[in-house]
Amino acid sequence: MITVSDVKKDEEVKAIMYMAENQIEALGFTEHSVRHSGIVSKWAGDILRDVGADEHRVELAKIAGYLHDIGNSINRYNHAQSGAILAYKILTRMGMPYMDAAEVMMAIGNHDEREGLPVSDITSALILADKADVHKSRVRANTTRVSMENLNIHDRVNLAAEKSLVYVNKEAGEVVLDIVIDTEKCPVMDYFEIYFGRMQLCRRAADFLGKKFVLVINGVRLL
Ligand SMILES: [Fe+2]
Ligand SMILES: [Fe+2]
Repeated sequence: MITVSDVKKDEEVKAIMYMAENQIEALGFTEHSVRHSGIVSKWAGDILRDVGADEHRVELAKIAGYLHDIGNSINRYNHAQSGAILAYKILTRMGMPYMDAAEVMMAIGNHDEREGLPVSDITSALILADKADVHKSRVRANTTRVSMENLNIHDRVNLAAEKSLVYVNKEAGEVVLDIVIDTEKCPVMDYFEIYFGRMQLCRRAADFLGKKFVLVINGVRLL
C-alpha cells in the first residue's frame, strides 16, 4: 500500500507543495506549508483511528491530510477541487488503487467550509484536523514591526492562539477542539467572526463520525 511517507518523498508532490506555499506567501495568507500539512495529516489519522477505523483508512486519511491544500499551487480560489484532482492524478501515478485514490480525492474536494461537506469518514476527519490548526506559528507578518491592530483578523487570531488541538474523547463520545487564546492579543469574538462557518462544518463532521462536537476555549466549553 502507498503510505504517507511514500507521498512525502515523491518529487512531484514536493514541487507542487513548494509552489502552493509560494503562492500563499505571495497572497499574504497564513502559513499552509509542510508544517500545516504534516499536522493535519497526523490529526486526521489519529481522529479516524480513535473512532474505530481500520489502518488502511487511517493511512488514506493521513495522505488526504498531507495533500489537502496542494490546490493552492494553482489558485486559492477553488483550491479544494483543483487539489482533489491533482491528488488523484499523483496517487494513481504512484500506483494507488483507483478506489483508494478516489476516496482521497473526495475528501480533499470537500475540506473547505465554503463548499465542502462531510461526505465520508475520511472527509470528516480531514475537516476536523484542518480547521483545528490555528496557531501563532502560522502568522508570517513581521509582528515585531506591525502592531496587533494593523494585522488582519486571521493573523490576529492565529497570533493569539497559544495552543490548539483536536482529539476524540472515546468515553464521552466527543470530538474536542481545545483552544487557548491570549485575550490580551485578540478577543474571543474575533475567533468566532472568522471561525463560525468552520465550526459549523466541524459539528457536521463530528456528527458524521457519530460523535458530539465540543469547542473548548480557555478551558470553557462553548459548544
Ligand atoms: Fe484548504
Ligand atoms: Fe488547510
